[in-house]
Amino acid sequence: MTKRKLLVTSALPYANGSIHIGHLVEYIQTDIWARFQKLIGNDCVYICADDTHGTPIMLNAQKQGKTPEEFIKMFHEEHQDDFKRFHVKFDYFGSTNSDENRILSENIYKSAKAAGAIYEKEIEQLYDDKKGMFLPDRFVQGTCPKCDAKEQYGDSCEVCSATYSPMDLKEPKSVVSGEVPVKKKSSHHFFKLSQFEDTVKDWLSKNVVRPEVRNKLNEWFETGLRDWDISRDEPYFGFKIPGTTDKYFYVWLDAPVGYIACTQNWAKDKSVTHDDIWKGDDWEIHHFIGKDILYFHTLFWPAMLSVGGYKQPEKVNIHGFLTVNGEKMSKSRGTFILAKDFGEKVNPEFLRYFYAAKLNGGLDDLDLNLDDFLVKINSDVLGKFINIGSRLGSILHKKLDGQLSSLSEDGEALLTEIRAKADDIKTAYETLDFNKAMRLIMGCADLANKYIDAKAPWAMVKVDPDAAKQVCTDGLNAFRLLAIYLQPVLPEISEKIKEYLCSPDFTWESINDTLSYQSVNPYEHLAGRLQKEDLDTIVQS
Ligand code: MSP
Ligand code: ZN
Repeated sequence: MTKRKLLVTSALPYANGSIHIGHLVEYIQTDIWARFQKLIGNDCVYICADDTHGTPIMLNAQKQGKTPEEFIKMFHEEHQDDFKRFHVKFDYFGSTNSDENRILSENIYKSAKAAGAIYEKEIEQLYDDKKGMFLPDRFVQGTCPKCDAKEQYGDSCEVCSATYSPMDLKEPKSVVSGEVPVKKKSSHHFFKLSQFEDTVKDWLSKNVVRPEVRNKLNEWFETGLRDWDISRDEPYFGFKIPGTTDKYFYVWLDAPVGYIACTQNWAKDKSVTHDDIWKGDDWEIHHFIGKDILYFHTLFWPAMLSVGGYKQPEKVNIHGFLTVNGEKMSKSRGTFILAKDFGEKVNPEFLRYFYAAKLNGGLDDLDLNLDDFLVKINSDVLGKFINIGSRLGSILHKKLDGQLSSLSEDGEALLTEIRAKADDIKTAYETLDFNKAMRLIMGCADLANKYIDAKAPWAMVKVDPDAAKQVCTDGLNAFRLLAIYLQPVLPEISEKIKEYLCSPDFTWESINDTLSYQSVNPYEHLAGRLQKEDLDTIVQS
C-alpha cells in the first residue's frame, strides 16, 4: 500500500466560550478519522486552532475587564484541557491571532487585490453612537418587520424565520448600549466572489462534498454568488487590512487561513513546509465542519485558496447538529451541556463510542438521548466488548497461571471470521460510516461472546485446565482484534488492553499476529457500567 499524506482539520472553535457536547460531535468525528488513518499507516496530521477575532470576543473581553489577548488565552487553555479529556489529539493546536496567520492573510488579500478581485464601496450600517461602533447584525435587537415579534435579532426572526437587514427592524436597539442606533456610512472592502464561480464549480464537481450538499450549493449558484464584505471598521479585534489605518479583516477572512498558519507552525520542526502541503501534489487536505458553516468552506474558502495560489481541499466533510433528548440544546432545559461537566461525570470514551455509533458521514442531525446512551454503552462497550476481557482475564489469573497457550482449532476459526471483517470495517471508517464500523465490530464481539459462552471456560477449568487455557487464549486473541478495531474510537481503553496483553504491536497490520505462550498482566478493571444517576446529575447541573 502506498502511504497517503493527509492534512486533517476541524473547524476552529471560537475563543469566546467553552466547548460543549455539540462541538464535540465534530472534534470526536475528526479525531476518530485521523486516528484511524494513523492506525492503518498513513501519514496524517490533525491540526486545529482557536478562532480568536471579531466583535463578540472584543466585547466579552471588555465585559470581563480583560484585554482580548488575555481573554483568548484563557479559552486557549480551557479548550485544550477539554479536548484532552475527550482524547481529541491534535498534532498542533494554535491560534488565529498569530504573526504567521497575519502574514498569510495579508498575502491572500494582496493576491486578490492584484487579481482585481477586491473593490471598495461605501455602505450604510447601523451605528451605536454612544459606544462609537458599527453594530453587527446580532448586536441589534428589535421588533420583527414581518410578524411583529419582539426582541428579535437584526438578521432573522426566531418566531417566523424571516430574514432581513437590521435596518428593517422596527424599534431597533443596540444590544451593546441599549441606545437607538443611527445610520452611518463607511467604505468597505469587497471580495468579488463571482469572479471565482467557475473555479469553485470545477472543484465541487470532483466529489469533494456529498451529493446532497452539492444540490444545496447549486441552488446558491442559481441565485448568483454575492460579493463578500471582508472588512470591518474600528474598534475591532483582528488584523488590520494592509494599506488602511482603520479597517480590519472580517474574522471569517483570517479564520480559515488559520488552517494554513497552523500547518506552518506545526511544520517548523519538520522536514516538510506548509507550502509543500498547501501547494504541492503530495498531500490531501480534508476539512471537517458543521453544516452551519458550509457557505464559508465551499464558496469563499476555495476562492481564497485559488487566488492565493494554493491548491483545493480534497474533501469537505460536513456533519449535522447535535440535539439532546430530541431537542436543540438549551440552557433552560439543562441540556446545554459543557464538555467539562459531561467529562467529569461520565467516562469520555463513552461519548466517543456513542457518537461513533450515531455518525454515518451524512448531514442529518444526531440525537443524544440519554436513556439510549445508557443502554447503548452498557450493552455494547461493557456487555459485549469489555466483558470478554474481564471474564477471561479473571479466569486466566485466578484459576490458571496467567499464561497464554496456543489457539484451539475452533479458536483459529473464530479469529479467521473476525479478521475477515477487517476490510469492511476499514472501508466504513474511511467513508465516515462509523455507525457501520461499530455494527460490524459489535458483530465480531457477538461471535466471540457466543464462542466463550459455548465453551464455558469457567466450568472447563475445573476438569480440563489445559483446554480452558486454550479457550482463554482464543478469546483474548479475539479481544485483542476488537481492541485494535476500536482503537480510533476508544484509544485509552485500547491502550490499556495493549498493555494488559503485553502485545507489542497494535497496528491494523498486526491483526494477523497471534498471541501465544506468553504471560499477560493481571487484568485490571477497564471501565465501569454507566449508572442512571450519573446522567441525571448532568442534565440538572
Ligand atoms: N469559528 C467558526 C469556525 C471557523 S473555521 C475556519 C465556528 N466556531 S464554533 O465554535 O461556533 O463551531 C465550531 C464547530 O463546531 C463548527 O463546525 C460547528 O458546526 C460545530 N458545532 C457547534 N455546535 C454544534 C452542535 N450543536 N452540533 C454539532 N456541531 C456543532 O463556527
Ligand atoms: Zn417574525
